[in-house]
Amino acid sequence: MSEDAKPLYYGDYLRLDRLLSAQQPESEERGRPAHDEMLFIIVHQAYELWFKQILHEMALIDRLFASDAVADRDIGTAVAALNRIQRILKLVIEQLDVLETMTPLDFLEFRDLLFPSSGFQSLQFRLIEIGLGLRRGERVSPDDKPYDSRLNEADRLRVQAAEGVPSLSDRVEAWLGRTPFVELGGYRFQESYRAAVSRMLAQDSAILRANTAIGAKERDAGLAALEAAQERFEAIYDEARHAELAAQGVWRFSWRALQAALFITLYRDEPVLQLPFRLLSLLMDIDETMTAWRYRHALMAQRMIGMKLGTGGSSGHDYLSEAARRYRVFGDLFALSTFLIPRSALPPLPDELLRAMGYGYAAPER
Ligand code: HEM
Repeated sequence: MSEDAKPLYYGDYLRLDRLLSAQQPESEERGRPAHDEMLFIIVHQAYELWFKQILHEMALIDRLFASDAVADRDIGTAVAALNRIQRILKLVIEQLDVLETMTPLDFLEFRDLLFPSSGFQSLQFRLIEIGLGLRRGERVSPDDKPYDSRLNEADRLRVQAAEGVPSLSDRVEAWLGRTPFVELGGYRFQESYRAAVSRMLAQDSAILRANTAIGAKERDAGLAALEAAQERFEAIYDEARHAELAAQGVWRFSWRALQAALFITLYRDEPVLQLPFRLLSLLMDIDETMTAWRYRHALMAQRMIGMKLGTGGSSGHDYLSEAARRYRVFGDLFALSTFLIPRSALPPLPDELLRAMGYGYAAPER
């Protein structure tokens, strides 16, 4: 402890007087106390505290990725922050177990007092969604009004400001787009990958044709499947085809960013690519866990209120499960698995590239 500092008291440091006096059950204020409302409030408040921590980590990642060149050690810091976000999301899914100790009948004791407030109005949750990269046009509309119409003026302005700045998805896309190794000196990842895929598909086709254990029908079906695989691969090689698919909403990431993500995923055993690979994996973990939360919350809502409308005015369970099905920010990274080829079929990287990658790893610029 430094000499001039006054001794710190636990309760003062944590502002417990404010924190612990912030539970004011509406049912008590209205003179009809409902025991379980305390649990309902505390679970929501605990969520909002964790949302605050998630936003704190996202702000750090944003600062690191805002620069034009992200240093290797900053990727390590971002990976640690993403991992923390992922752990928090897992924890808050578990919190719903505690809330479910409240039965639907207990909830009815105070539910009518909550209208029209709802998790719909959680500003921090919206900031997390937007910060990750969920776009206004991708949202499910519970009615004709914009999703932020239920927010008060101050919160609406915050949401709109957040929509106007780059999201984590934008930052990662730009960072991937700058990955130098996909084209370096004489090396073109695109060309070497394409040749490996053609070899693999030709081999598969030869095996199919030579297989005497299957009939003509199965062989034709197998060959047609290989042709379809070839077409899927073509879309990944061809920038113009990618642009068409991106316009249809099939891909979100730019063509360059996708190439880099594929390169990182295929060659992730190279030391310089291990952290980038970990980062991409965590983005998928977070996407998956957000979706898991949405489904879990939708099921809990159905268990609590059945087919009733939500207090915020949506169709309730139907709206929530549609949002769970549709809201995916890093779906591109999942889709890339379609284009992976076995390690044994992977062309070795040229020495020139390996040297460049080794140098970049050993001497990070600050
Ligand atoms: C009894 C427990 C709960 C029920 C019955 C419930 C029900 C609902 C319903 C029906 C909606 C749709 C909007 C509406 O019409 O109101 C909703 C939205 C939401 N709820 Fe809950 N909820 C519960 C607990 C929680 C908890 C503990 C959280 C944690 C913060 C939460 C966060 C949210 C969020 C963020 C939304 C907006 C989701 C979106 O628009 O995609 N809810 N809730």
